[in-house]
Amino acid sequence: MKDQRKFWNQMADFGADAAVIDPNDKWGHKNRYIKWLRDEVFLKLINQTGFSVNVLDFGCGSGNISNLLAAHGHDVIGIDISLELLKLATTARRNGNSSFICYDGSNLPICLNSVDIVTTYLVLIHITDNDALQAVMRELYRCLKPGGLMIAIEQTRKKSKLTDNGYKRQRLQAEYQDIFSNAGFTASGRFTIRSGHMPLIYLVQLGLLPKYVFPILARIEQLFCPLSQQIGDYVDTVFLLKKPVSVQKAPSSDT
Ligand SMILES: C[S@@+](CC[C@H](N)C(=O)[O-])C[C@H]1O[C@@H](n2cnc3c(N)ncnc32)[C@H](O)[C@@H]1O
Repeated sequence: MKDQRKFWNQMADFGADAAVIDPNDKWGHKNRYIKWLRDEVFLKLINQTGFSVNVLDFGCGSGNISNLLAAHGHDVIGIDISLELLKLATTARRNGNSSFICYDGSNLPICLNSVDIVTTYLVLIHITDNDALQAVMRELYRCLKPGGLMIAIEQTRKKSKLTDNGYKRQRLQAEYQDIFSNAGFTASGRFTIRSGHMPLIYLVQLGLLPKYVFPILARIEQLFCPLSQQIGDYVDTVFLLKKPVSVQKAPSSDT
């Protein structure tokens, strides 16, 4: 945890987007596409509820998703372990209701049953130990209102893999699903949106594909995901998780 905090505090030097997407994207074109795709997915899923909701953006980093959702009328609390990234999040805050909290990595300073939606994007992969992730998921479950939704987007692959000097674990979809259900969540949907190395991404990187083709590119990328999974590359998987409305009580020990 301490290492992760130090790592992310250092990443903040790259700026709000590069720090949390790809610091090696020289011209920023690839990061712009990935950011666009990420924002589209979250906005679409959240706006289809038709209400203004309160959102906990877990691992909000430089506040990209938090500030976007706040600008669309939602009340957002962004939480992260990196104070330096949170400073970027606060600086980028424009209009709307977003606030940011730096926390210890284990106990979320959020009330029981108080949040409509939890969002998280490429954060759970950085909690590389399965038991630690299980504990975090239980905390997120506690914060959600019964009937609440969690939207998690994470890199998954056919075989679990520890990458980037041990800072990231790309798990199997099934491995995630087990951890989520052990924390009490029920699965309410799952689909893939990005593949690690879709060939067209190199044209994006060079700035050869303008923004108006991004929706077409996203569609192609989605079609490319099954092949990508097959050949063992990673894909970005969207997990939709529900906290059941009637939570079953654990049996008491004296019965
Ligand atoms: C790839 S960045 C994603 C940031 C943000 N979700 C976004 O999409 O812009 C990963 C983030 O996870 C945060 N993080 C890593 N471990 C964490 C933990 N145990 N609890 C909360 N945040 C964590 C990092 O500080 C970093 O901000």
